[in-house]
Amino acid sequence: MPSRAAALIAPARSLSGQFRVPGDKSISHRYAIFAALAEGPSLIEGYAPGADCRSTLTCLEALGTEYRTNGDGAITMIGRGFDAFRSAESALDAGNSGSTMRMLAGLLAPARFTTRIVGDESLSRRPMRRVIAPLTEMGARIDDSDGHAPLTIHGAPLHGIAYRPAVPSAQVKSAVLLAGLRAEGTTSVTEPAQTRDHTERALRTFGLDFDVDGLTVSLTGGQRAAGRPLHVPGDFSSAAFWLVAAAALPGSRVQIDHVGLNPTRTGLLDVLRRFGARVEVHPDTASDEDEPRGTIIVQGDRTGSIEIAAAEVPGLIDELPAIAALAAHGGEVVVQGAEELRVKESDRIAVLVAGFRGLGIDAEERADGYAIRGAARGGPTGGIVDAHGDHRMAMAFAIAALAANGPSRIEGADAVGISYPGFFETLQQLVHTAA
Ligand code: S3P
Repeated sequence: MPSRAAALIAPARSLSGQFRVPGDKSISHRYAIFAALAEGPSLIEGYAPGADCRSTLTCLEALGTEYRTNGDGAITMIGRGFDAFRSAESALDAGNSGSTMRMLAGLLAPARFTTRIVGDESLSRRPMRRVIAPLTEMGARIDDSDGHAPLTIHGAPLHGIAYRPAVPSAQVKSAVLLAGLRAEGTTSVTEPAQTRDHTERALRTFGLDFDVDGLTVSLTGGQRAAGRPLHVPGDFSSAAFWLVAAAALPGSRVQIDHVGLNPTRTGLLDVLRRFGARVEVHPDTASDEDEPRGTIIVQGDRTGSIEIAAAEVPGLIDELPAIAALAAHGGEVVVQGAEELRVKESDRIAVLVAGFRGLGIDAEERADGYAIRGAARGGPTGGIVDAHGDHRMAMAFAIAALAANGPSRIEGADAVGISYPGFFETLQQLVHTAA
């Protein structure tokens, strides 16, 4: 049974500070996987320190990839190419990480051996048919438990397919493309909407050939790559909590340096501007990395009301818990077309609405989103809420609780270790308390 620490949050007047956030989780997973697939060493600087990205490393190690941690968040992976992967002695444990399970399913579908991948209770509830279906169509055989983990992947020679996933998902796109790298012929994925393109950028970084035509990405199997140095920028989705808190508390100013600015991830910035915050973005033009990065400054000014429509959702899916916290401080946030939130680390619609109500915030659950009206009834009272093992819920509740009139207690706050181990320490450094 994992430990369940609680965090106490006092009301805050404002936030200020200039700092960096830990390395990007999505990019770290991919760099580790591509570095393991490549031949030769890859030094990965800024590798994400959370438990999810550690799960990917441990799984790759169990498949025979050596890596060492160099201090300062850097790791060196010693890739030996796909054919050097060997059957793991026991099941791979993806922990809480959907990216690890889905992307490794794609990576291992063309292997000459069988791999079992397990996950924690939350991951074992999340839908896996979305990767099982295309990988089976390519020629792999995958045993599941009614569409859920554990997955047993019987690797087989694969052939390319033209796949059209029903839901926009970067994890599905990545699983199919990773399998396609070892498949006979061409594999393509045509998405219903643009999702984060970190896999495409990692392919480019490693010198692998692929084509993008509108929403279709395609590549041909049988390519090889060489190890190389990699620099992971700060995680925009971790920065999001501070950007929201600064926008929601007029008089705040946060400056986050060296943070990822990949345009498929930064939909939140437009939302903050619509809400009434002052937002500055300074791209690091000296960087020649395939993943853009730079400085973001947010100053809280006015608070307003925002509506988020379905078309915006893929560009800010992981920021929707933080965005809800915007309204805790005043105004209104209405989100629709976000039913995917129900199959994340928790049911992020139900858990969010229950938690916000626990803080005394007016929150309405909808099938595909939520409506939050923070200032109703004189502002939140504060209260006791449960993160339900979900890192982003714990952080969203913490940011929302800053708006309350009294103290709050977040149960299961240690879940932040999945993506942002130092979150509560940074919170202490940034806030100016209301008292
Ligand atoms: C991720 C893609 C998204 C996102 C998740 C990370 C990735 O999930 O919510 O946190 O790294 O590819 P889906 O692919 O399920 O949309």
